[in-house]
Amino acid sequence: MTNIGIIGCGGISRFHYEGYEKAGARIAHVCDVRPEAAQAVGDRYGAKVSTDYRAVLDDPEVALVSVLTPSSTHREICLAALAAGKGVVCEKTLSDDPAASAEIARAAEAAGVFCATAYMKRHFPASQQAKRLLAEMGPVTSLYARTWQPYAELWDETLGEWTKERPSAPVRAYGGGALVCGGSHILDLVHWYAGRPSRVCGHMATREGLDFDRATNALLWLPHGAAGHFEAHWHPLQFAGYERNGWDERLEITTASGRLDLYTVLWHAPERNPALLVHQDAASGKVTEYRFPAVNAFHAEMAEMLRRFEVGEPPEPSAWDGYVVDQLIATIAESAQAGEAMDMEWADGK
Ligand SMILES: NC(=O)c1ccc[n+]([C@@H]2O[C@H](COP(=O)([O-])OP(=O)(O)OC[C@H]3O[C@@H](n4cnc5c(N)ncnc54)[C@H](O)[C@@H]3O)[C@@H](O)[C@H]2O)c1
Repeated sequence: MTNIGIIGCGGISRFHYEGYEKAGARIAHVCDVRPEAAQAVGDRYGAKVSTDYRAVLDDPEVALVSVLTPSSTHREICLAALAAGKGVVCEKTLSDDPAASAEIARAAEAAGVFCATAYMKRHFPASQQAKRLLAEMGPVTSLYARTWQPYAELWDETLGEWTKERPSAPVRAYGGGALVCGGSHILDLVHWYAGRPSRVCGHMATREGLDFDRATNALLWLPHGAAGHFEAHWHPLQFAGYERNGWDERLEITTASGRLDLYTVLWHAPERNPALLVHQDAASGKVTEYRFPAVNAFHAEMAEMLRRFEVGEPPEPSAWDGYVVDQLIATIAESAQAGEAMDMEWADGK
């Protein structure tokens, strides 16, 4: 049985510890700088409790750690975990800086230690089916990818909570707004399905009083001459989207032989409805809807991370996959600021 360390016991942590528990691992040591947060999880599992992540890394019982602290702390904690020989599952984004993410990926490679980036949207059965179908459909010719999340408060006069502290809560926890939060997941799916863009042209929109983007769009130059359109948007429409709950996230992927439409579901309630995949065959016009049972994609993710770690298979998404997303985020933002398209330069030379 694999002994798990949980570093960071905030909002996202329950998806990790419950997922590992369900998959048969043991939560052995939990840590948070807020002692009460760590204690609550420790009590639940009879696990050791610490307020310093180094105590988890020094614990010989722990084999695999989930790093669930704000993204700005991931570099330090992941590098220390890899140096201690612990397998790592790091929540997205791998860090808040592509150079730091490349450093983590290189360190994992050099040490030969398991290091994954947690992008759970790859783990919806519908997302996995899309990957399987694409393997037979030929290269992507066009891709449209959007993540629209409902934040009506961003559109009222006062802005309320969003302006109370600087940096604001999303900047402290995630490193940014629409592009980093929802956009990172979608950029992970974009490069998983269509390959790495070679060039991007970004456009970012904010409003006075905000220290993050409310919307980011980008044109992506994809392999085989394909074009990708990317949109991340914190919008005011409370009933938009496939679930009619404001969560309006989808990918439309076209190849010469057909089209896939993937609709995802509200991120923190993924067991309510299944993600939906629709396949249209170009030659016959036949349309197939894949409606899998609703599953918690985080739990599927933890089970797969654990399986790979235990059998010694490379992680997926890897630290390098996490780096790719962080490099895309940085270059799209840079391109938006410069007002011009920019070539992608990849730290791993690919
Ligand atoms: N996959 C997703 O859909 C998704 C959704 C939300 C958040 N996330 C990611 O999860 C991570 C955490 O986000 P969250 O929403 O849980 O934030 P959070 O603020 O709720 O929790 C972070 C926790 O880390 C603790 N912490 C901070 N620094 C620490 C340190 N040095 N050592 C130990 N503990 C420390 C804080 O006290 C807090 O309890 C972020 O990287 C975020 O981007 C991913």
